[in-house]
Amino acid sequence: KTSWRGIMAEYAPFFGSPDPASIVTLQEGGTPLIPLDRIAREIPVPVSLHAKFEGANPTGSFKDRGMTLAVSRAAARGARALICASTGNTSASAAAYGVRAGLRVFVVIPDGKISRGKLAQAIVHHATVIQVEGLFDQALSIVREVASSHPIALVNSVNPDRLEGQRSVAFEIVDQMGSAPDYHFLPVGNAGNITASWAGYKAYRDAGRLTALPRMMGVQAEGAAPIVLGHVVEKPETLASAIRIGNPASWQGALAASRDSGGTIFSVSDEEILEAYHLLASREGVFCEPASAASLAGFLKKARSGAFSGGERIVLTLTGHGLKDPDAVFRTQTSEIRVPARKEEVLAVLGLT
Ligand code: F0G
Repeated sequence: KTSWRGIMAEYAPFFGSPDPASIVTLQEGGTPLIPLDRIAREIPVPVSLHAKFEGANPTGSFKDRGMTLAVSRAAARGARALICASTGNTSASAAAYGVRAGLRVFVVIPDGKISRGKLAQAIVHHATVIQVEGLFDQALSIVREVASSHPIALVNSVNPDRLEGQRSVAFEIVDQMGSAPDYHFLPVGNAGNITASWAGYKAYRDAGRLTALPRMMGVQAEGAAPIVLGHVVEKPETLASAIRIGNPASWQGALAASRDSGGTIFSVSDEEILEAYHLLASREGVFCEPASAASLAGFLKKARSGAFSGGERIVLTLTGHGLKDPDAVFRTQTSEIRVPARKEEVLAVLGLT
């Protein structure tokens, strides 16, 4: 097989068969669907559990799936600059795809509230980083206004091209499993991804590529759970900084995805997120960022409350790579053994003296 060409080429019929020359791509998508057998054995009934590891995308998150479309189309329309608000991953992806297309990129982020890995990505790709003394929600409303009155393309997920590209995760899961899972858990922040993933399953069904649709299980962090609470959260707070959002743009899309699929949107605590984060890393060798672990935390919560009877096939989206946020590790774990540089000293640590 030739190497993976990126989602717009691999799923060309779903994207209006774009002209290959007009595609701005880093060969995103084609991410692994990793079995989580050791974690699955922890719950009382036998289920099949897999992680769609979106950290394996070129900039380390699922945002690349939407960004290839958004930036390709913005460039084709003659855009010279891109702008986005971000909790970090969108800005990292916009910065990378923007330079690749030769565009200027402006990213507006909540002051001091995005992880260092993501900030490093925006900086290294020469984006202009504007920290606002406020929340993501405020940053988003500012960039929406700026883009509506100036010739700058908005690449947040309120741009329909972003959601159209993010549908591809569902295409891949179905191709990898041979069918849709019974349940698809994913973290919900601005709510674009659950909206897009659900649209992807439906588009694949309409194209005759699958019959049964999954239940969409959206997971919010307790301190930033506007959809669960049914009202805007003025001061969202969670250690999962990627989903610290109080007024999601795709609120209605998320509600429709959960309702129409027979799924639900619910919340988990930061402690549950951290437990899931450490389980993935220490039992499965899978390192995702804290927000991503909300999907496993949500699955475990449902499993422990007896939601599964056995035999279900479950997919979790792990939305971003753990290296995005190394500080999340050091906040809770350290491991430093220093010895003089002699073999005997190392053997002593190994217990082999
Ligand atoms: N997981 C990660 C790692 C994210 O970065 C995001 C969103 C989500 C989950 C939630 O996805 O917003 O579509 O519901 N990050 C955005 C950003 C807000 O700016 O990078 P969503």
